[in-house]
Amino acid sequence: MIIAVDGPTASGKGTIAKAIAAHFQLPYLDTGLLYRAVGKQVWLNDGDPDNAKDALVATQFPDSLFDNPDLRNEETGGLASRVSIHPEVRSALYERQREFAMQEGGAVLDGRDIGTIIVPEADVKLFITASVEERARRRWLEMQDRELEITLVAIEQDIVARDARDINRKDAPLRAAEDALVMDTTSFDKDQAIEAAIEAVQSQLDR
Ligand code: DC
Repeated sequence: MIIAVDGPTASGKGTIAKAIAAHFQLPYLDTGLLYRAVGKQVWLNDGDPDNAKDALVATQFPDSLFDNPDLRNEETGGLASRVSIHPEVRSALYERQREFAMQEGGAVLDGRDIGTIIVPEADVKLFITASVEERARRRWLEMQDRELEITLVAIEQDIVARDARDINRKDAPLRAAEDALVMDTTSFDKDQAIEAAIEAVQSQLDR
């Protein structure tokens, strides 16, 4: 059973995908982390994230980079969004994601193009959204918890910029697959969103 969970930044798709994986006892891959690792590696190489060649070189990052706590910060998220525009980067990361998805027993993957490009044949596709204001609020609370200093306005601006880049890029833009179930979690708290998503997956499987 392969479950694709896509959606914009800070929509809660990661939390939902992880909970689905735990509930259905499936391995889970956060594909954003791959793009974040490339973004961080470009920075470590003193490269330019907007340059396709520099970004492609950075796809050779060592796996130890996954342990770097910087990977989850806003700055790396911005770098990830920039390197993810290059088709060369997307194809360099394709096989790794595809292999993970096709492992025996299935998997849960979250990202931007899982249901459209990486695994169009996924058994269940969810597209998680929430308003920009709500996504900014959630991200801000998360940053507060981690004692990172950033204003709500700065986060909101960053989310708008990243949405624009993710939606408007030519290669594999962020969009819901035609057969995806779109879930707007703006008015849900975390537990409600998880419960609704698990129910949605179960009902898709029962059909
Ligand atoms: O989900 P995230 O915020 O960790 O993703 C960071 C960036 O990586 C996002 O702005 C766009 C890119 N990304 C992508 O292009 N395709 C994916 N499947 C996952 C992430």
